[in-house]
Amino acid sequence: METLVKLLLGLVLLLLANAVPLLASPKAHHHDFVVQAAKVKRLCKTHNSITVNGQYPGPTLEINNGDTLVVKVTNRARYNVTVHWHGVRQMRTGWADGPEFITQCPIRPGESYTYRFTIQGQEGTLWWHAHSSWLRATVYGALIVHPREGSSFPFPKPNRESILMLGEWWDANPIDVVREALRTGAAPNVSDAYTINGQPGDFYKCSSKGTVIVPVDSGETNLLRIVNAALNQQLFFSVANHKLTIVGADASYLRPFTTSIIMLGPGQTTDVLITTDQPAARYYIAARAYASAQGAPFDNTTTTAILEYKKAACPAKAKCSSPKPVAATLPVFNDTATATAFTTRLRSRERAEVPTDIDENLFFTVGLGLNRCPPGVRARNCQGPNGTRFAASMNNVSFVLPKNFSILQAYRQGVPGVFTPNFPGTPLVKFDYTGNVSRALWQPVPGTEIYKLKYGARVQLVLQGTSIFTAENHPIHLHGYDFYIIAEGFGNFNSKTDTAKFNLVDPPLRNTASVPVGGWAVIRFVADNPGAWIMHCHLDVHLTWGLGMVFVVEDGIGASQSIEPPPADLPAC
Ligand code: C2O
Repeated sequence: METLVKLLLGLVLLLLANAVPLLASPKAHHHDFVVQAAKVKRLCKTHNSITVNGQYPGPTLEINNGDTLVVKVTNRARYNVTVHWHGVRQMRTGWADGPEFITQCPIRPGESYTYRFTIQGQEGTLWWHAHSSWLRATVYGALIVHPREGSSFPFPKPNRESILMLGEWWDANPIDVVREALRTGAAPNVSDAYTINGQPGDFYKCSSKGTVIVPVDSGETNLLRIVNAALNQQLFFSVANHKLTIVGADASYLRPFTTSIIMLGPGQTTDVLITTDQPAARYYIAARAYASAQGAPFDNTTTTAILEYKKAACPAKAKCSSPKPVAATLPVFNDTATATAFTTRLRSRERAEVPTDIDENLFFTVGLGLNRCPPGVRARNCQGPNGTRFAASMNNVSFVLPKNFSILQAYRQGVPGVFTPNFPGTPLVKFDYTGNVSRALWQPVPGTEIYKLKYGARVQLVLQGTSIFTAENHPIHLHGYDFYIIAEGFGNFNSKTDTAKFNLVDPPLRNTASVPVGGWAVIRFVADNPGAWIMHCHLDVHLTWGLGMVFVVEDGIGASQSIEPPPADLPAC
């Protein structure tokens, strides 16, 4: 009898031991990232670039919706570094978000920090990148979130998936490029190439050997996961002779529609199905700038990869040369009509849960500025237009990163003097934002100011572009949240008439909004994730100049509405 009880008990314990971890803890994926310099040869020259694990672009992370990622980042480079998981909601795990001096102090050379977070309710393509100075020029990679285990895409399963990361390459050390710009006060040098998976492609010197090939069979569907990882440039993208069926963006599904051109702002991702229904041949996949700022210099080159039908390929080692790829058509660089036609077509796949009954009605201007040369500063440090220094701001506050503490740590520990809670919810001075703005309004005020949100606040935010110095399309990215883009338009937002344009039924859910050049976008979200969340322009040069601010979202009631305690290895400030 006793042995039978023991046996049964043992059996029950065995069953529990196996079942409980499956139920209680999501599947965890462990990775090691070593940030280190590595030799990267591009455009005929070898650079000592900062990479992860010596790879450029860095490793692709793949998980299922619901899984946990544990990434130990060790810094073997000579710069401070942090890693940001772009678009990951980081529910209650704000310590793992990554932006330097916002949620953590940097990982110093020789040190390490383990990022640990769970992806919940997001499916599609995201990415990761360094969030310190301009290191993300070479420190980035894809983060693929497959459907939850046991479920599948809300569209027929594609035969193949290909990641296409669009990047931007300087024939120089990008850290030197930004340092030089900060020294002179002028705009930084534009890049020398765009890249697809790190390769510029056929139209650049010393490049065609490395051109990325996407092999396909006839009559299949291929899911292209496209990421704009460029530092400072919106990009148009197309594939010669092939239609693109949009199915997702920023790891949210969209109602499918077909187009031949897409536009991505830096930070944005788009998931696209293509069907290989064309004659077996080789077709260019191409991307080039959508440059909306009038008269501003930009990199006017075109990057390419090749969609290659296997039947049209020259077999390895065979004595033939592959046929020339079919050319791709792309809009002209300033084709705002095409860019807007694309972004305004995006719709959620399902009916959206857009917050109504708004608690916080916010209005932020976003744009550039010019600082007069400060007294005592030499002319060589004021080489911006007419002897000024470039700046940028939201609501006229030019964001300054704390120097030796993070905002999240300062907030949680009550450390004074790191930030002030005075970010204005609406502009202190109202003016014709997209008109001929008086020079008196061109100079923003520097500050490390945050805007506090109560847990659960329903937020509406109008992002209003300005024409200060020049109007321009701004990719505005919010950390820790996805938001609905309920409307966009040109000119000044009119709170009486433009509300008629609000889509509260099926607007797209994104983490980065393209605010139209000389226009506005309205976003909504519920502040249900406590922490310190930076919102900034994802053109790194604009962030460098101060185009950002921070929302501090308070804890709600109980543990499930509060940020977790900081990890023990959070870098010391
Ligand atoms: Cu993709 Cu704050 O960044």
